[in-house]
Parts: sequence; structure tokens; C-alpha cells
Amino acid sequence: RHFLLAGAAAGAALAAPMLVTRRAIAAEPGAPLPIPPLMEVDGRAGNTLSARAGTRNFYPGVSSPTLGFSQDYLGPTLRLVKGRTAKIAVENRTEAPITAHWHGMHLPGHLDGGPQLAFGPGETWTPELPVNHPAATLWYHSHVHGETATQVYRGLAGMILLDDPEIDVPLPRTYGEDDFPLIVQDRLFRRGVMTYDLGHMDQMAGFQGSDILVNGTLQPKLTVPAGLVRLRLLNASNARTYEFGFSDGREFHQVASDGGLLPAPQAMTGLHLSSGERAEIVADFSDRRAVRLVSADIAGGMMGGGSMGGMMGGGGMMGADTGATGTLDILSIEVSEQPARVSGALPARLPATLPDLGAPVRTRDFTLNVHSGGMMGSMLNNLVGRDGQTMGINGSSYDMSRVDFHVPLGETERWRINADMMAHPFHVHGASFLVTGMGGRAVDPQATGLKDVVHVDGLTEILVRFDKPATAEAPFMYHCHILEHEDRGMMGQFTVG
Ligand code: C2O
Ligand code: CU
Ligand code: CU
Repeated sequence: RHFLLAGAAAGAALAAPMLVTRRAIAAEPGAPLPIPPLMEVDGRAGNTLSARAGTRNFYPGVSSPTLGFSQDYLGPTLRLVKGRTAKIAVENRTEAPITAHWHGMHLPGHLDGGPQLAFGPGETWTPELPVNHPAATLWYHSHVHGETATQVYRGLAGMILLDDPEIDVPLPRTYGEDDFPLIVQDRLFRRGVMTYDLGHMDQMAGFQGSDILVNGTLQPKLTVPAGLVRLRLLNASNARTYEFGFSDGREFHQVASDGGLLPAPQAMTGLHLSSGERAEIVADFSDRRAVRLVSADIAGGMMGGGSMGGMMGGGGMMGADTGATGTLDILSIEVSEQPARVSGALPARLPATLPDLGAPVRTRDFTLNVHSGGMMGSMLNNLVGRDGQTMGINGSSYDMSRVDFHVPLGETERWRINADMMAHPFHVHGASFLVTGMGGRAVDPQATGLKDVVHVDGLTEILVRFDKPATAEAPFMYHCHILEHEDRGMMGQFTVG
């Protein structure tokens, strides 16, 4: 169902020079996977995330300018505990306004860290976050309108582990021992320097880098114990979609999606993850065989929409009706002699806490527009590589001073989301949702839990209920999580009360 359009092939040809120069300097494969330090954030004062500029040698001996939270690149993993309050200070030591958005948490608008809550250089934001979300893998990142793509690209992002002490799950859960954060990002390097450079193709599809970083490291190696290991995958790429699997095709189980545990482990050999999504998987390494975590290299990233493919008669130019053109190495895995803490079979059921949302009170329709002035205008823009492209939802681009709609607190709504040209990862702030329909197909097993990003490739239906308020001063966002689309206006905002 991933068709490529003729225009995409033309765009790729225009962008070819950047692909040629990308490996002027070789990476040293096999650096150990860095595990971001854990920061336990609870009711005590003193936990500070300090956004700052830095440098990092992604390639040996070549330094790249970066941004990070209390580190040169990315930030610590925040551990929050359900039922407690998390007190955190976010300092801005960069030279531009930033925000700290707690992606996936259920917080009132004034704590959510959206674009209205930007704070300037030298300022500190000190939110107290009531943590009442089920156990999950979430994340945080800057969210300044028009700057999200560049700020996240340079490093203003990190992972959040939310624990629920009342739920006892027989899954691996020792951070850095059998439970690993994997923050996956594609990046472009020119002579070894991390570069953000939008080619013609990226104007429309979103940025595609040619090298993959995991936790900020190229081609890392991870040594795991022999037994069950949990990998928390976060797609923190600007636009790229991954199809994760193991190089030997081994089966693994997905145990959680964006918002927490699935009702039952899902056996699979390939896992689709679009930008902003998370998945926790458990793999069995008791055979002690070394293996690689890989991804299909999905050409053109999000160019999956059947409608465009059909319209352009696409699907032929770059082959494959899957759109896959090769394999990306993500992570090398070696297995130590040490037996894992957890081994054997996974439980048949997991203590997922899916809300009973009941019947929707109303329905809202959304169409994600690659060009708010119409489809043909957008195609022409892209073919001539013109800048300043606007994108939108339901025909209008994001406007910080306009509230797009109001949602009554605590009422279940059905949202129907469609896209006019290509597939998009659709994200909503302030609540998790349940996916009830995906492009006329059955809901993917991996989208059966609580979600906050859904891959929209054809008409997608979700049920959502907002239990946290948001005012016009700090409304909730809904947007495409391809950051180049979001920054160009494929975003809206709403109040809840
Ligand atoms: Cu991950 Cu509105 O963001
Ligand atoms: Cu978010
Ligand atoms: Cu998009």
C-alpha cells in the first residue's frame, strides 16, 4: 500500500548530490550504545533540565553543533511515578525561545509546554506536573512554532518513563540492564558534520537523513543478557517512518504502544513506527546469537498515500509496492553470558488500563492538507522547489491567535482524520485516544492500545475524551508529527472546558 509518485522520483533525483557526499568520513561502528542517565522526578525540588548549546563528535574527530537538555545532545530519561507530582525546572540557556512539551502526558494546557508556553533565553519554567497517566514510554521535546523541526533535530528531546507502582508486570524493567531506551533519529552528515538541509523532496515529504542515530550514536552496539529484553522504541525522527525488525527475522512481541501496555502481547516480525510514536517490544535472546535491529528503508518516508499513488499512476518508478528499497542498520546486539532476570514465556494478558469511552457525543472531521491552497498548487510548488510552502488542516494553516474549536470537558468524541495527498502521523495533545478504524482496514494490532499519534493512511477514526482543561492562553495542539509539516502550518489548536 505504499505507492511512490512520479513527482517523488523527480524530487529524489534533484536531491541526489546530498546523498553522494554523505559518507565523506566513515563512522566507527560498534561504539557502545549510550544509555541516557535517569533523572527521578518527583515532589522534591532540584531537578533541572538545562537547555543549552553544545558540540558532539558523531563522527570521530569532527564536531557538530548541537542542542541538548543538560547534555550536549538529547536529554536525560525522566522517570515519573503515577500518583505523584513531578517538580521540574527547565532552564533556557540557549539563544532562542524554547518550550518543554511533555508528549503523551495528560496535563492541563498551561502545563503542556505547547507553542504558547515558549520562554526566552535566560528564563526558567518551573511546572509541577500531576502524574496520573498509566505506565508508559513518553517523551519531551521543544515545541516552538516554526522552530520545532530544527530544535528537535539539533537535540532538544528526551525520553520519559512513567511507572505505576500499583501494577506488577512480569516484564523486564531494570533500566539499562534488560530494559533499554532506544531513541531513533535519522540525520544528514556532510563531511561528518550534522546538517539540517531540506532538499526539494523534503519540502513536501519532510526531512530524510541518511544516517541513523540511536541515543545520539551512529551504528551503536548493545550487549544484552541472555533471555527476555525490553526495548523502548521512540521514533524521534523529524519525518522518517521505520519498519523495525531483526536481521534474522526472529519474532518479537510488542507489549506497549504510545500510551502504555497493550491488552495482550502481540507477536510480530515487523513493527511500523511513524514520527512521534513509541512501542515497547520484548525479544528473546536466550539463544545467545548476535543479531541486528534493522528497519526497512521506506523510500520517501511518508509518501505512502494510496490516493496520490493512484492519481499519478505511481508505484512503478522506484519499484516495490511496499516502497521499501533496502535495509537500514539500527543497532547491533550482542548477548552476554549473563542470564537475564526474566526468561521464558510472556504472560498471555497484560494489565492494560484502557478507558471505557462509551458512545461518542459528536463527530469532528479533519483533512490534512499538504497545501492549504489546494493540491495542484502544492505539487507545482514542489516540482519547482519553491520555499515558504504552507500546509494546513481543513484548508487553513496554523494561526497562534486563532482557536480552531472548543471541546466540552469529559465528553467522548469521534474524530475522523483523512489526508489529501500522503500519509501523516496525526498527534493530539491532552489525552490518549483509541483507534477504531484505519483506512478501511482492520486496526493494526500495534494500534490497539492507548495512542497519541496515529499513522493516517486513508480515513482513520479515533475515539477521544479530554479530561484536562485548556484555555485560549494555553490551548491543546493537534498536528502532523512530521515536524516540517507541523512547522509549516499542519497544526491547529483547541480549548477544553
Ligand atoms: Cu510531540 Cu505537539 O508534539
Ligand atoms: Cu505532544
Ligand atoms: Cu504531515
